[in-house]
Amino acid sequence: MIVTREAIRFLRQGRVVEVTGFHPRTTLLDYLRLQERKVGTKEGCAEGDCGACTIALGRVRDGHVHYEPVNACILLLGQIDGAELVTVEDLAAEGDLHPVQAAMVAHHGSQCGFCTPGIVMSLFALYHEGRQPLGRDAINDALAGNLCRCTGYRPIVDAALDACSRPPNDTFSANGEARAKALVELADGQDILIDGEDRFFAAPASEAPLAALYERHPDATVVAGCTDVGLWITKGMKELDKIIWLGRVAELGLIEENTERLVIGATVTHAQAYPALARIDPDLGEIMRRFGSVQVRASGTIGGSIANGSPIGDLAPAFIALGAELDLRQGDESRTIPLESFFIAYRQQDRAPGEYVRRVGVPKLKANETFRAYKVSKRFDEDISAVLGAFRLTLDGRRITAARVAFGGMAGIPKRAAETEQALVGLSLDDPSSWGEALAATRRDYQPLDDHRASAAYRGTVARNLLFKALSETASGQTLATRIVGRRETLEAAE
Ligand SMILES: Cc1cc2nc3c(=O)[nH]c(=O)nc-3n(C[C@H](O)[C@H](O)[C@H](O)COP(=O)(O)OP(=O)(O)OC[C@H]3O[C@@H](n4cnc5c(N)ncnc54)[C@H](O)[C@@H]3O)c2cc1C
Ligand code: FES
Ligand code: FES
Repeated sequence: MIVTREAIRFLRQGRVVEVTGFHPRTTLLDYLRLQERKVGTKEGCAEGDCGACTIALGRVRDGHVHYEPVNACILLLGQIDGAELVTVEDLAAEGDLHPVQAAMVAHHGSQCGFCTPGIVMSLFALYHEGRQPLGRDAINDALAGNLCRCTGYRPIVDAALDACSRPPNDTFSANGEARAKALVELADGQDILIDGEDRFFAAPASEAPLAALYERHPDATVVAGCTDVGLWITKGMKELDKIIWLGRVAELGLIEENTERLVIGATVTHAQAYPALARIDPDLGEIMRRFGSVQVRASGTIGGSIANGSPIGDLAPAFIALGAELDLRQGDESRTIPLESFFIAYRQQDRAPGEYVRRVGVPKLKANETFRAYKVSKRFDEDISAVLGAFRLTLDGRRITAARVAFGGMAGIPKRAAETEQALVGLSLDDPSSWGEALAATRRDYQPLDDHRASAAYRGTVARNLLFKALSETASGQTLATRIVGRRETLEAAE
């Protein structure tokens, strides 16, 4: 008999908390501020950009509790099932500030203080990583999702360097074993269903009940990380009466790898996928580093970034260029399709009602294949691409024998460049004077978007130039002259 739980359970201040009867679309931030009346966690943008609402979630991995910073404004209350919830109110112990709080005071890291709780929570998670050595670059990455308008980042980074460059030694690390044990006990493998048939928050624990539930309620909203859906709630004011959260479905959270392919389950987060993707190619790793922020990567999933069908998403064009395939399931039926055929038209995907994305299979590069991918956005960190170009070239010596080229931001969908690919075949890397036709073909392949992020003319020029850059870098084998940041020489040396 399948047992269903009618409440979510999480660890809070050392105790198990059970919550039931909440509206499915309740955000964690609303729960904290309106129900717990814990108002240390702030609301700034309510769309995942400013980090004022950052809290930390602890989950057990390899027997230890790992803390990740998350934006509470775009996280559903139901999504914290099975986790330890830590907010800024929980850090000071018996009147003593936590080491990251004390360092923020000592280094004058706060002025108006509105951003400070969020920054402290991001640093709390960094502190628990115990990364040594810890440099300014790593701290800048860790704080990319925390906006401070008045202090300036130098004292905040100084505080981080001071507090986070040593092994963690606080009350959380002191009783880490007990916390890990309590979290393991929460993982009961039961399906969760809160409320009834017309309105519910459901979190199935495995694929069979998920497939059956979604087939029965194809009008339900499937939620993975909620970094998109959260904005439908906070900005679109959508009611979302039926929510099926995928985060507990064991089969969807797996990463499998062999010498030829990487298979990533739909609910694998960007943070979890990052190392495996970086091993396929350093450029893929660099795209992941710049994907949103630490908070967005901790919640957002690989499946969500494909299923949302965004024409400016970063992963779809990169995966299409690599030749990825998508697995989908509806009821008892499963199918596999080339990723590019999933995207039909603007916000229209090849996905039937009640059908969900199971996983994506990404081929690894063969010895005679090269890959380059570039994200062009207005801001370096925490910004959506204006254009993302991805290029996989197959070489016979110095000659191109096959090409897969895909762009994001150049059409209503992430799309391959058929004419460009054809024009690339046969070109010599040693003869740049022969590349002109392929460069010109990028103009014929796309009628780019024209919007507030970038004009169509700008996008057209960028796409052509990115192809030139890919060819030049592949020909020279160097990126020192073509990149200011994300040089492959540096990324490869760091591996
Ligand atoms: C601050 C911020 C920064 C961002 N930065 C970037 C960025 O740099 N690059 C980028 O590409 N994107 C970015 N995004 C967009 C977003 O984070 C990503 O697209 C993300 O990966 C979505 O994943 P999710 O799991 O949160 O999706 P959700 O919000 O849970 O779902 C998104 C959509 O997909 C559907 N869905 C989710 N999983 C499945 C599934 N398995 N099967 C069927 N349907 C499913 C949902 O119903 C919904 O329609 C950013 C978002 C925010 C808020
Ligand atoms: S309130 Fe700005 S990220 Fe949540
Ligand atoms: S201290 Fe005012 S926003 Fe950071």
